[in-house]
Amino acid sequence: MANTKILVTGGAGFIGGNFVQYMVNKYPSVEVYNLDLLTYAGDLTKHREIENKGNYHFIKADITDRETIIPLFEKELFDYVVHFAAESHVDRSITDPEVFVRTNVLGTQVLLDASKKIGLKKFVHVSTDEVYGELDFDPTTFFTETTPLQPNSPYSASKASSDMIVRAYHKTFGLPINITRCSNNYGPFHFPEKLIPLTISRVLNEEKVPVYGDGGNIRDWLHVLDHCAAIDLVLHEGINGEVYNVGGHNERTNLEVVKTIIKTLGKSEELIEFVKDRLGHDKRYAIDPTKLEQLGWKPTYTFESGIAQTIDWYLDNKWWWEQIISGEYQKYFVKQYSL
Ligand code: NAD
Ligand code: DAU
Repeated sequence: MANTKILVTGGAGFIGGNFVQYMVNKYPSVEVYNLDLLTYAGDLTKHREIENKGNYHFIKADITDRETIIPLFEKELFDYVVHFAAESHVDRSITDPEVFVRTNVLGTQVLLDASKKIGLKKFVHVSTDEVYGELDFDPTTFFTETTPLQPNSPYSASKASSDMIVRAYHKTFGLPINITRCSNNYGPFHFPEKLIPLTISRVLNEEKVPVYGDGGNIRDWLHVLDHCAAIDLVLHEGINGEVYNVGGHNERTNLEVVKTIIKTLGKSEELIEFVKDRLGHDKRYAIDPTKLEQLGWKPTYTFESGIAQTIDWYLDNKWWWEQIISGEYQKYFVKQYSL
Protein backbone atom coordinates (compact mmCIF):
# COMPACT_ATOMS: atom_id res chain seq x y z
CA MET A 1 0.00 0.00 0.00
CA ALA A 2 3.02 2.35 -0.32
CA ASN A 3 2.14 5.82 -1.73
CA THR A 4 -1.50 5.02 -1.19
CA LYS A 5 -3.81 7.87 -0.17
CA ILE A 6 -6.82 7.13 2.04
CA LEU A 7 -9.44 9.77 2.78
CA VAL A 8 -11.27 9.18 6.06
CA THR A 9 -14.34 11.40 6.50
CA GLY A 10 -15.47 12.11 10.06
CA GLY A 11 -12.04 11.26 11.43
CA ALA A 12 -12.42 13.73 14.30
CA GLY A 13 -15.39 11.79 15.67
CA PHE A 14 -15.57 8.63 17.75
CA ILE A 15 -15.23 5.71 15.34
CA GLY A 16 -13.57 7.69 12.54
CA GLY A 17 -11.06 9.01 15.10
CA ASN A 18 -10.19 5.52 16.30
CA PHE A 19 -9.93 4.37 12.68
CA VAL A 20 -7.57 7.23 11.73
CA GLN A 21 -5.27 6.33 14.63
CA TYR A 22 -5.46 2.63 13.75
CA MET A 23 -4.52 3.28 10.10
CA VAL A 24 -1.79 5.89 10.78
CA ASN A 25 -0.07 3.51 13.21
CA LYS A 26 -0.63 0.27 11.27
CA TYR A 27 0.36 1.55 7.83
CA PRO A 28 3.18 4.14 8.19
CA SER A 29 3.68 4.30 4.43
CA VAL A 30 0.02 5.08 3.70
CA GLU A 31 -1.04 8.75 3.64
CA VAL A 32 -4.14 9.12 5.83
CA TYR A 33 -6.27 12.24 5.24
CA ASN A 34 -8.81 13.07 7.95
CA LEU A 35 -11.57 15.27 6.50
CA ASP A 36 -13.96 16.65 9.12
CA LEU A 37 -16.15 19.70 9.64
CA LEU A 38 -15.51 19.67 13.42
CA THR A 39 -19.15 19.84 14.46
CA TYR A 40 -20.03 19.48 18.17
CA ALA A 41 -19.06 15.79 17.82
CA GLY A 42 -15.63 16.32 16.28
CA ASP A 43 -12.46 17.28 18.12
CA LEU A 44 -8.80 17.10 17.23
CA THR A 45 -7.37 16.85 20.75
CA LYS A 46 -7.86 13.10 20.51
CA HIS A 47 -5.16 13.01 17.82
CA ARG A 48 -2.37 14.64 19.80
CA GLU A 49 -0.33 11.40 19.71
CA ILE A 50 -0.46 11.12 15.91
CA GLU A 51 -0.75 14.73 14.73
CA ASN A 52 2.99 15.06 14.12
CA LYS A 53 3.33 11.77 12.26
CA GLY A 54 4.29 12.35 8.64
CA ASN A 55 1.49 10.22 7.21
CA TYR A 56 -1.37 12.04 9.04
CA HIS A 57 -3.09 15.01 7.40
CA PHE A 58 -6.14 17.03 8.47
CA ILE A 59 -8.55 18.84 6.15
CA LYS A 60 -11.33 20.95 7.65
CA ALA A 61 -14.25 20.73 5.22
CA ASP A 62 -17.97 20.09 4.97
CA ILE A 63 -18.90 16.98 2.95
CA THR A 64 -22.00 18.77 1.64
CA ASP A 65 -19.82 21.56 0.15
CA ARG A 66 -19.53 20.42 -3.48
CA GLU A 67 -17.37 23.43 -4.49
CA THR A 68 -14.71 22.31 -2.01
CA ILE A 69 -15.02 18.53 -2.18
CA ILE A 70 -14.86 17.99 -5.96
CA PRO A 71 -11.66 20.08 -6.53
CA LEU A 72 -10.10 18.45 -3.46
CA PHE A 73 -10.60 14.98 -4.93
CA GLU A 74 -9.33 16.14 -8.35
CA LYS A 75 -6.20 17.56 -6.71
CA GLU A 76 -5.37 14.75 -4.27
CA LEU A 77 -6.56 11.78 -6.37
CA PHE A 78 -7.34 9.63 -3.33
CA ASP A 79 -7.12 5.86 -3.78
CA TYR A 80 -9.68 4.96 -1.13
CA VAL A 81 -12.46 6.70 0.80
CA VAL A 82 -13.72 5.39 4.14
CA HIS A 83 -16.84 7.42 4.90
CA PHE A 84 -17.77 7.89 8.56
CA ALA A 85 -18.85 11.56 8.59
CA ALA A 86 -22.45 11.83 9.72
CA GLU A 87 -24.85 13.15 12.26
CA SER A 88 -24.96 10.06 14.46
CA HIS A 89 -27.15 10.59 17.54
CA VAL A 90 -30.73 9.28 17.40
CA ASP A 91 -32.03 11.70 20.06
CA ARG A 92 -30.75 14.70 18.12
CA SER A 93 -32.43 13.37 14.98
CA ILE A 94 -35.74 13.49 16.85
CA THR A 95 -35.32 17.14 17.82
CA ASP A 96 -33.58 18.36 14.62
CA PRO A 97 -33.96 15.94 11.66
CA GLU A 98 -33.00 18.37 8.89
CA VAL A 99 -29.25 18.35 9.39
CA PHE A 100 -29.36 14.52 9.36
CA VAL A 101 -30.79 14.49 5.86
CA ARG A 102 -28.40 17.17 4.67
CA THR A 103 -25.20 15.64 6.06
CA ASN A 104 -25.98 11.94 5.82
CA VAL A 105 -27.77 11.88 2.46
CA LEU A 106 -26.58 14.92 0.50
CA GLY A 107 -23.05 14.75 1.96
CA THR A 108 -22.72 11.12 0.90
CA GLN A 109 -23.89 11.92 -2.60
CA VAL A 110 -21.35 14.75 -2.96
CA LEU A 111 -18.57 12.35 -1.93
CA LEU A 112 -19.82 9.77 -4.45
CA ASP A 113 -19.84 12.36 -7.25
CA ALA A 114 -16.28 13.35 -6.34
CA SER A 115 -15.19 9.68 -6.17
CA LYS A 116 -16.74 8.95 -9.57
CA LYS A 117 -14.57 11.65 -11.16
CA ILE A 118 -11.20 10.25 -10.09
CA GLY A 119 -11.24 6.50 -10.64
CA LEU A 120 -11.30 5.63 -6.95
CA LYS A 121 -10.22 2.06 -6.05
CA LYS A 122 -12.92 1.70 -3.40
CA PHE A 123 -15.52 3.68 -1.41
CA VAL A 124 -16.30 2.07 1.96
CA HIS A 125 -19.55 3.43 3.35
CA VAL A 126 -19.80 3.00 7.12
CA SER A 127 -23.44 2.35 7.87
CA THR A 128 -25.34 0.96 10.82
CA ASP A 129 -27.54 -1.95 11.90
CA GLU A 130 -30.27 0.61 12.62
CA VAL A 131 -31.17 0.68 8.91
CA TYR A 132 -32.83 -2.73 9.43
CA GLY A 133 -35.27 -1.30 11.99
CA GLU A 134 -35.88 -3.30 15.13
CA LEU A 135 -36.17 -6.94 16.20
CA ASP A 136 -38.47 -8.27 18.88
CA PHE A 137 -37.07 -9.99 21.97
CA ASP A 138 -36.85 -13.48 20.42
CA PRO A 139 -33.11 -14.23 20.93
CA THR A 140 -32.97 -16.53 17.89
CA THR A 141 -33.62 -13.70 15.40
CA PHE A 142 -30.83 -11.59 13.90
CA PHE A 143 -30.25 -8.96 11.21
CA THR A 144 -28.58 -10.47 8.13
CA GLU A 145 -27.40 -8.55 5.06
CA THR A 146 -30.65 -9.50 3.29
CA THR A 147 -32.99 -8.27 6.04
CA PRO A 148 -35.22 -5.57 4.48
CA LEU A 149 -34.37 -1.98 5.39
CA GLN A 150 -37.08 -0.60 7.71
CA PRO A 151 -35.51 2.37 9.50
CA ASN A 152 -37.57 3.92 12.29
CA SER A 153 -35.81 7.15 13.34
CA PRO A 154 -34.88 10.17 11.22
CA TYR A 155 -31.24 9.18 11.87
CA SER A 156 -31.62 5.60 10.65
CA ALA A 157 -33.82 6.71 7.74
CA SER A 158 -31.08 9.10 6.62
CA LYS A 159 -28.47 6.33 6.92
CA ALA A 160 -30.66 3.89 4.95
CA SER A 161 -31.08 6.58 2.28
CA SER A 162 -27.32 7.04 2.07
CA ASP A 163 -26.87 3.25 1.75
CA MET A 164 -29.25 3.28 -1.21
CA ILE A 165 -27.40 6.16 -2.92
CA VAL A 166 -24.10 4.29 -2.47
CA ARG A 167 -25.66 1.14 -3.95
CA ALA A 168 -27.05 3.15 -6.87
CA TYR A 169 -23.64 4.65 -7.72
CA HIS A 170 -22.25 1.12 -7.81
CA LYS A 171 -25.04 -0.30 -9.97
CA THR A 172 -25.37 2.71 -12.29
CA PHE A 173 -21.84 4.03 -12.59
CA GLY A 174 -19.77 1.00 -11.59
CA LEU A 175 -18.18 2.76 -8.61
CA PRO A 176 -16.34 0.15 -6.49
CA ILE A 177 -18.02 0.13 -3.07
CA ASN A 178 -18.63 -1.78 0.11
CA ILE A 179 -21.20 -1.01 2.79
CA THR A 180 -20.64 -2.05 6.40
CA ARG A 181 -23.50 -2.19 8.90
CA CYS A 182 -22.23 -2.37 12.45
CA SER A 183 -23.94 -2.72 15.79
CA ASN A 184 -23.45 -0.30 18.72
CA ASN A 185 -19.81 0.63 19.31
CA TYR A 186 -18.16 1.61 22.58
CA GLY A 187 -14.58 2.38 23.61
CA PRO A 188 -12.10 5.27 23.87
CA PHE A 189 -13.14 8.76 22.69
CA HIS A 190 -16.84 7.89 22.65
CA PHE A 191 -18.72 11.19 22.89
CA PRO A 192 -20.47 11.36 26.29
CA GLU A 193 -23.97 11.88 24.91
CA LYS A 194 -24.24 8.15 24.09
CA LEU A 195 -25.31 5.58 26.71
CA ILE A 196 -21.97 4.03 27.75
CA PRO A 197 -19.73 7.13 28.00
CA LEU A 198 -22.64 9.13 29.44
CA THR A 199 -23.09 6.53 32.17
CA ILE A 200 -19.37 6.32 32.95
CA SER A 201 -18.92 10.09 33.15
CA ARG A 202 -22.09 10.62 35.20
CA VAL A 203 -21.34 7.80 37.63
CA LEU A 204 -17.81 9.15 38.14
CA ASN A 205 -19.33 12.56 38.89
CA GLU A 206 -21.99 10.98 41.18
CA GLU A 207 -24.75 12.29 38.87
CA LYS A 208 -28.02 10.60 37.94
CA VAL A 209 -27.97 8.28 34.92
CA PRO A 210 -31.09 8.61 32.73
CA VAL A 211 -32.44 5.22 31.61
CA TYR A 212 -35.13 5.49 28.97
CA GLY A 213 -38.39 3.61 29.61
CA ASP A 214 -37.87 0.47 31.69
CA GLY A 215 -34.27 -0.10 30.52
CA GLY A 216 -35.28 -3.34 28.77
CA ASN A 217 -34.28 -2.33 25.23
CA ILE A 218 -31.41 -4.43 23.88
CA ARG A 219 -28.32 -3.31 21.98
CA ASP A 220 -25.53 -5.52 20.55
CA TRP A 221 -22.23 -3.99 21.70
CA LEU A 222 -18.91 -4.08 19.84
CA HIS A 223 -15.58 -2.57 20.90
CA VAL A 224 -14.60 0.18 18.48
CA LEU A 225 -11.21 -1.40 17.70
CA ASP A 226 -12.94 -4.58 16.54
CA HIS A 227 -15.03 -2.37 14.25
CA CYS A 228 -11.85 -0.68 12.93
CA ALA A 229 -10.30 -4.08 12.16
CA ALA A 230 -13.48 -5.11 10.34
CA ILE A 231 -13.40 -2.00 8.15
CA ASP A 232 -9.70 -2.52 7.40
CA LEU A 233 -10.50 -6.07 6.27
CA VAL A 234 -13.44 -4.98 4.12
CA LEU A 235 -11.32 -2.21 2.59
CA HIS A 236 -8.71 -4.77 1.49
CA GLU A 237 -10.68 -7.98 0.98
CA GLY A 238 -14.34 -7.01 0.63
CA ILE A 239 -15.97 -8.20 -2.58
CA ASN A 240 -16.90 -5.24 -4.76
CA GLY A 241 -20.53 -4.18 -4.26
CA GLU A 242 -21.14 -6.30 -1.15
CA VAL A 243 -22.68 -5.37 2.19
CA TYR A 244 -21.09 -6.72 5.41
CA ASN A 245 -22.74 -6.78 8.84
CA VAL A 246 -20.39 -6.23 11.78
CA GLY A 247 -21.20 -7.46 15.30
CA GLY A 248 -19.88 -9.74 18.02
CA HIS A 249 -22.99 -11.30 19.63
CA ASN A 250 -22.87 -9.11 22.73
CA GLU A 251 -26.51 -8.40 23.42
CA ARG A 252 -27.31 -6.62 26.67
CA THR A 253 -30.31 -4.70 27.99
CA ASN A 254 -29.58 -1.04 28.68
CA LEU A 255 -30.20 -1.66 32.36
CA GLU A 256 -27.62 -4.47 32.41
CA VAL A 257 -25.06 -2.15 30.78
CA VAL A 258 -25.71 0.66 33.27
CA LYS A 259 -25.62 -1.70 36.27
CA THR A 260 -22.34 -3.26 35.05
CA ILE A 261 -20.70 0.18 34.89
CA ILE A 262 -22.04 1.22 38.30
CA LYS A 263 -20.83 -2.03 39.87
CA THR A 264 -17.38 -1.81 38.26
CA LEU A 265 -16.98 1.74 39.60
CA GLY A 266 -18.20 0.68 43.06
CA LYS A 267 -21.11 3.12 43.13
CA SER A 268 -24.79 2.87 44.10
CA GLU A 269 -27.63 1.81 41.81
CA GLU A 270 -29.57 4.70 43.34
CA LEU A 271 -27.88 6.80 40.65
CA ILE A 272 -30.24 5.20 38.11
CA GLU A 273 -33.15 7.42 37.12
CA PHE A 274 -35.87 6.00 34.87
CA VAL A 275 -36.99 8.76 32.49
CA LYS A 276 -39.51 9.20 29.70
CA ASP A 277 -38.87 6.80 26.83
CA ARG A 278 -37.26 7.82 23.52
CA LEU A 279 -39.88 8.40 20.81
CA GLY A 280 -40.06 5.39 18.47
CA HIS A 281 -37.47 3.59 20.64
CA ASP A 282 -36.23 0.49 18.75
CA LYS A 283 -36.64 -2.59 20.97
CA ARG A 284 -33.70 -4.75 20.01
CA TYR A 285 -30.75 -4.87 17.61
CA ALA A 286 -28.77 -8.09 17.02
CA ILE A 287 -26.30 -8.76 14.22
CA ASP A 288 -25.52 -11.99 12.38
CA PRO A 289 -21.85 -11.43 11.38
CA THR A 290 -21.38 -14.77 9.55
CA LYS A 291 -20.57 -13.19 6.18
CA LEU A 292 -17.77 -11.04 7.64
CA GLU A 293 -16.44 -13.98 9.67
CA GLN A 294 -16.19 -15.95 6.43
CA LEU A 295 -14.02 -13.10 5.09
CA GLY A 296 -11.65 -13.68 8.03
CA TRP A 297 -12.81 -11.31 10.81
CA LYS A 298 -13.38 -12.17 14.41
CA PRO A 299 -13.65 -9.79 17.39
CA THR A 300 -10.88 -9.68 19.98
CA TYR A 301 -12.95 -8.24 22.85
CA THR A 302 -15.78 -9.86 24.79
CA PHE A 303 -18.22 -7.37 26.28
CA GLU A 304 -16.65 -8.02 29.71
CA SER A 305 -13.06 -7.34 28.59
CA GLY A 306 -14.10 -4.42 26.40
CA ILE A 307 -16.17 -2.61 29.01
CA ALA A 308 -13.41 -3.07 31.62
CA GLN A 309 -10.85 -1.58 29.20
CA THR A 310 -13.22 1.27 28.36
CA ILE A 311 -13.94 2.16 32.00
CA ASP A 312 -10.17 2.17 32.68
CA TRP A 313 -9.68 4.44 29.67
CA TYR A 314 -12.25 6.95 30.97
CA LEU A 315 -10.57 6.89 34.39
CA ASP A 316 -7.16 7.55 32.80
CA ASN A 317 -8.36 10.18 30.29
CA LYS A 318 -10.56 12.58 32.23
CA TRP A 319 -8.75 15.42 30.41
CA TRP A 320 -10.58 14.39 27.25
CA TRP A 321 -14.18 13.95 28.37
CA GLU A 322 -14.21 16.64 31.05
CA GLN A 323 -13.49 19.33 28.44
CA ILE A 324 -16.43 17.99 26.43
CA ILE A 325 -19.07 17.77 29.15
CA SER A 326 -18.50 21.34 30.28
CA GLY A 327 -20.38 24.40 28.99
CA GLU A 328 -22.60 24.10 25.95
CA TYR A 329 -23.07 20.36 26.37
CA GLN A 330 -24.94 20.73 29.70
CA LYS A 331 -27.58 22.92 28.03
CA TYR A 332 -28.14 20.23 25.42
CA PHE A 333 -29.17 17.73 28.05
CA VAL A 334 -31.98 19.91 29.33
CA LYS A 335 -33.32 19.87 25.78
CA GLN A 336 -33.06 16.09 25.50
CA TYR A 337 -34.99 15.43 28.71
CA SER A 338 -37.93 17.53 27.56
CA LEU A 339 -38.57 15.38 24.46
P1 NAD B 1 -19.63 10.88 15.69
O1 NAD B 1 -20.87 11.69 15.83
O2 NAD B 1 -18.80 10.62 16.90
O3 NAD B 1 -18.65 11.57 14.61
C1 NAD B 1 -19.13 12.11 13.43
C2 NAD B 1 -18.03 12.97 12.84
O4 NAD B 1 -18.50 13.47 11.58
C3 NAD B 1 -17.66 14.17 13.71
O5 NAD B 1 -16.26 14.30 13.81
C4 NAD B 1 -18.25 15.35 12.94
O6 NAD B 1 -17.51 16.56 13.11
C5 NAD B 1 -18.18 14.85 11.51
N1 NAD B 1 -19.13 15.52 10.62
C6 NAD B 1 -20.44 15.73 10.83
N2 NAD B 1 -21.00 16.42 9.83
C7 NAD B 1 -20.00 16.62 8.92
C8 NAD B 1 -19.94 17.26 7.65
N3 NAD B 1 -21.04 17.84 7.11
N4 NAD B 1 -18.77 17.28 6.98
C9 NAD B 1 -17.66 16.70 7.54
N5 NAD B 1 -17.65 16.10 8.74
C10 NAD B 1 -18.82 16.06 9.42
O7 NAD B 1 -20.08 9.56 14.99
P2 NAD B 1 -19.61 8.03 15.25
O8 NAD B 1 -20.37 7.49 16.39
O9 NAD B 1 -18.13 7.99 15.25
O10 NAD B 1 -20.16 7.34 13.92
C11 NAD B 1 -19.38 7.39 12.73
C12 NAD B 1 -20.12 6.66 11.63
O11 NAD B 1 -20.35 5.31 12.01
C13 NAD B 1 -21.49 7.26 11.33
O12 NAD B 1 -21.68 7.24 9.92
C14 NAD B 1 -22.47 6.34 12.02
O13 NAD B 1 -23.69 6.30 11.33
C15 NAD B 1 -21.74 5.01 11.92
N6 NAD B 1 -22.00 4.04 12.99
C16 NAD B 1 -21.91 4.41 14.31
C17 NAD B 1 -22.10 3.46 15.30
C18 NAD B 1 -21.97 3.81 16.76
O14 NAD B 1 -22.27 2.98 17.62
N7 NAD B 1 -21.51 5.01 17.13
C19 NAD B 1 -22.40 2.14 14.96
C20 NAD B 1 -22.51 1.80 13.59
C21 NAD B 1 -22.29 2.76 12.63
O1 DAU C 1 -26.73 0.44 16.46
C1 DAU C 1 -25.80 1.36 15.97
C2 DAU C 1 -26.14 2.75 16.44
O2 DAU C 1 -25.81 2.81 17.81
C3 DAU C 1 -25.42 3.84 15.66
O3 DAU C 1 -25.83 3.80 14.32
C4 DAU C 1 -25.68 5.23 16.26
O4 DAU C 1 -24.91 6.21 15.59
C5 DAU C 1 -25.29 5.18 17.72
O5 DAU C 1 -25.57 6.43 18.33
C6 DAU C 1 -26.01 4.06 18.44
O6 DAU C 1 -27.44 4.36 18.52
P1 DAU C 1 -28.30 4.06 19.83
O7 DAU C 1 -29.49 4.92 19.82
O8 DAU C 1 -28.50 2.59 20.03
O9 DAU C 1 -27.21 4.54 20.95
P2 DAU C 1 -27.40 5.40 22.29
O10 DAU C 1 -26.09 5.32 23.03
O11 DAU C 1 -27.97 6.75 22.03
O12 DAU C 1 -28.49 4.58 23.09
C7 DAU C 1 -28.26 3.21 23.42
C8 DAU C 1 -29.49 2.72 24.15
O13 DAU C 1 -29.54 3.35 25.44
C9 DAU C 1 -30.79 3.05 23.47
O14 DAU C 1 -31.70 1.98 23.66
C10 DAU C 1 -31.30 4.29 24.18
C11 DAU C 1 -30.75 4.12 25.59
N1 DAU C 1 -30.37 5.35 26.31
C12 DAU C 1 -29.56 6.24 25.67
C13 DAU C 1 -29.17 7.40 26.30
C14 DAU C 1 -28.29 8.40 25.60
C15 DAU C 1 -30.79 5.55 27.61
O15 DAU C 1 -31.51 4.72 28.21
N2 DAU C 1 -30.38 6.69 28.25
C16 DAU C 1 -29.59 7.63 27.64
O16 DAU C 1 -29.28 8.66 28.27
